[in-house]
Parts: sequence; C-alpha cells; structure tokens
Amino acid sequence: MPREAGRPRRQPDRRHGPGNGSRDGPGTNFRADTIIFLAGSDIMPDCRLRMLNPEDLPAILSIERASFPGCPWTLEGFLAEMERQFSAVLGLFPPVRSMTPAPPSGGGGGFPPSPLAAFAVFWLLEGETHLMRLAVAPERRREGLGRTLLDAVLSASAAKGMERAVLEVRENNPAALSLYRSRGFRVTGRRRGYYEDGRTDALTMTLDLVPRGLGGGPGPG
Ligand SMILES: CC(C)(COP(=O)(O)OP(=O)(O)OC[C@H]1O[C@@H](n2cnc3c(N)ncnc32)[C@H](O)[C@@H]1OP(=O)(O)O)[C@@H](O)C(=O)NCCC(=O)NCCS
Repeated sequence: MPREAGRPRRQPDRRHGPGNGSRDGPGTNFRADTIIFLAGSDIMPDCRLRMLNPEDLPAILSIERASFPGCPWTLEGFLAEMERQFSAVLGLFPPVRSMTPAPPSGGGGGFPPSPLAAFAVFWLLEGETHLMRLAVAPERRREGLGRTLLDAVLSASAAKGMERAVLEVRENNPAALSLYRSRGFRVTGRRRGYYEDGRTDALTMTLDLVPRGLGGGPGPG
C-alpha cells in the first residue's frame, strides 16, 4: 500500500510488515533508549526488560515465526524498526522456570540468564502509541508475560505523554482480543479483508491513556 513520502501513515499497514516508513518521525521527541527506564518499574518481579538490538534478531525471529507463521516479519524489517527514532523494540526476559539457586560465591542475584520470552514493537507518533507487534514464545504463554509486556508498553507510553494506544488485531485471535480487552481496549473500527488471505478482517482497538508524569519534569527523551 502506498505511503506518503517521508511521513508514516497514522495507521500502519501491518500486512506488509515493517520497513516501509520513513526513518524519522514527524516531530517526535521519543528516544528509544529511554523506554527501559520508563517501563522498568512496572514489570513483574524478576523479569528484565530492555531494548532489543541486532544481536537479539535470532531470538526475535524464532518467536516471530512461531507466532505469525503466515506472515512473519523479516530480519530486514526488524532491523529497520530498530533504526527508526520513533520505534521501540522491547524484549522481556523472565527468570527461567526451573531455577537452581546460584552458588553463594557466584554473585549476580541468583538467577541464571534467561532467553528472550516476548517482544513488542511499537511506534510513538503524534500523541499515539501504535502497537505493531506483540508476541510471546509459545512455550512461555499463559504465564502473564504478554500482559506484563503490554502493561510496560502502556506505562511507558503514558509517561511519554501519549494520549491513546491503538492497534489492529485479527478478528479470529481470541487470545489477543481477550488480552487487549482485559486492559481496557475497545473496538473502534473494522478493516475488511485486511490480512494476507483477503478474508480476515482486522479490528482496530483503542485505549485512552491516563497522562502520567515522570516525577516533576519532562522526560529524558
Ligand atoms: C496473545 C499473546 C501475546 C498472549 O500472551 P500470553 O503471555 O499468553 O498472555 P497472558 O498469559 O499474559 O494472558 C493475559 C490474558 O490474555 C488472554 N489470553 C491469553 N491467552 C489466551 C488464550 N489462549 N485464550 C483466551 N484468552 C487468552 C486472557 O485474557 C489472559 O488473562 P487471564 O490469564 O487472566 O485469563 C500470545 O498468545 C501470543 O504471542 N500469540 C501469538 C501472537 C499474537 O497473536 N499476538 C497478538 C497480535 S495482535
């Protein structure tokens, strides 16, 4: 779908994946590396949250392909997202499930390194957060990780002054619909035949965000 030169569409077209927008956001003051600080206080105990980088691409692609087998984004697409100023690629690293305590001399808090379990890609543009991707590794689903990551995205967005969050979801994705509804998103539109098969509709969902200060001053971004 054509895009205005140098200006991303307000409603990103997810059928074709990422990598087809401009590299610079229109008037955004968002800096991706601030998001960890903003969101970090809201995550589950013992979970780590950080911006993902090219070294994480194998783990991202593994989750992506398992989660969206019909239309996975490409490596190049994720790289483009990592380079865009207004885009964030955020990863969640929960503690491994079968934890063995670290030896007393080992230091480091007692948790072995955990692999990437979930990621989110989102844009902060013109007062709106566009949730482009949210996926949890199949073996780590139904543990609350999707909700934890979504909460981190929403919390960081509110802290950055975004007024609402918008997303599109397949009408036949009950897990995602239930997750978004549980956080207050409501259906605000329908895009007929939006997905690659031409038969599946996308539902547009919107959530008004409550402005949240950063403790007395403008954000670091
Ligand atoms: C949708 C997805 C991100 C949910 O992640 P998750 O970590 O399993 O979800 P959580 O454990 O945090 O569950 C949060 C809520 O989501 C809903 N939910 C999650 N999985 C569900 C399922 N299989 N069926 C129905 N509801 C489900 C429930 O409302 C759940 O709340 P509850 O546990 O109190 O009932 C995950 O299933 C996924 O990655 N799916 C493939 C990719 C995808 O569809 N992404 C969304 C695209 S818009």
